[in-house]
Amino acid sequence: MHTRLTEILDVEHPVMLAGMGGVSYHRLVAAVSEAGGFGCMGASTMRFDEMVDEIARVREQTAKPFGVDLLTAAPQDLDAKVNAIIDGGATVFVAGLGVPRDVVELCHRRNVLVVNMCGKVRHAVAAVEAGCDIVVAQGTEAGGHTGQVATMALVPQVVDAVGPDVPVLAAGGIADGRQMAGGSTKRALAGIIAAALRDELNGRLGREPHYIPVLGKPGDTAALTQPGQTEAMEALIPSSETNWENRYTPRVALRLRSYRPFEKASRVRCPLLVCVSAHDTITLPGPALAGAEAAPLGESATYECGHFDVYAGEWFERAVSDQIAFLGRALADSAVAQRP
Ligand SMILES: Cc1cc2nc3c(=O)[nH]c(=O)nc-3n(C[C@H](O)[C@H](O)[C@H](O)COP(=O)(O)O)c2cc1C
Repeated sequence: MHTRLTEILDVEHPVMLAGMGGVSYHRLVAAVSEAGGFGCMGASTMRFDEMVDEIARVREQTAKPFGVDLLTAAPQDLDAKVNAIIDGGATVFVAGLGVPRDVVELCHRRNVLVVNMCGKVRHAVAAVEAGCDIVVAQGTEAGGHTGQVATMALVPQVVDAVGPDVPVLAAGGIADGRQMAGGSTKRALAGIIAAALRDELNGRLGREPHYIPVLGKPGDTAALTQPGQTEAMEALIPSSETNWENRYTPRVALRLRSYRPFEKASRVRCPLLVCVSAHDTITLPGPALAGAEAAPLGESATYECGHFDVYAGEWFERAVSDQIAFLGRALADSAVAQRP
């Protein structure tokens, strides 16, 4: 997955190992970096010589980027420790418990990024003001030691407070891909809502719409940003052969919450065929199938494919033949019903 974070950390996946003191030693750090994430060593509980030795072992086991975490609240020899971290080959210094004001300049001078673990909005703003490059919104689920604000509430507030240029990582209670996906959509969602409000206002004032792209890269303010979606759309509607423009008026997003066509399915009296792609992540299959159930003459056909697959090739042929068969049945039934 490509995000702004993978770009600036130079990793494959937007996942950072927590620099857990007493847990994140060289083996774990190297394994995470080797797997394409960002390994981060927890050095807060280590003696100086132990930390230097552990960093050297990480370097022996991987040539990929890694970071080291210390606690700002334990400032003894912080300068010397940060210099040793950088000498050892780390590309990121992670500071827990407090803004690491005194070493930001040192890190930047030596081309090392600074990450700050933040449990409050005010803390994240102070971190950015001090020059930190990335903030981690660390909810109370992350062991409770950074405050009492829950991850779910903290992350969007921090995203809004630090602005669009500072990457925000979420920490605390994130255990699988679904929670990861939820975290990574928050920034994009905030951007779309801002664009939608601006577009709505333009509409009310009679001005030109404020367009945003339909298709974009992960992290862009666009409707569809998952990897592969631009390519899939291009295959369906080649831009060189059509005048389709990659833009839409985002005010529609403000009405999406109340747009629930399948809630009215029970009132559809004619035969209804609902075709569903089982692995569709854009138009979710569940509500469509429930709608087919609710309609008195409803039926459904499910295809084991994704959103775009049903518009071409094998799945397209199957869907079209199901639709033709459905029309044949429905029209034959209505002919019987109309016979005198
Ligand atoms: C055993 C343990 C030790 C930790 N030590 C540190 C630490 O030294 N420095 C730090 O910034 N965070 C530390 N953390 C917090 C993590 O960085 C991270 O925010 C937290 O583990 C995320 O919550 P989760 O465990 O629910 O994913 C520690 C967490 C655990 C579980």
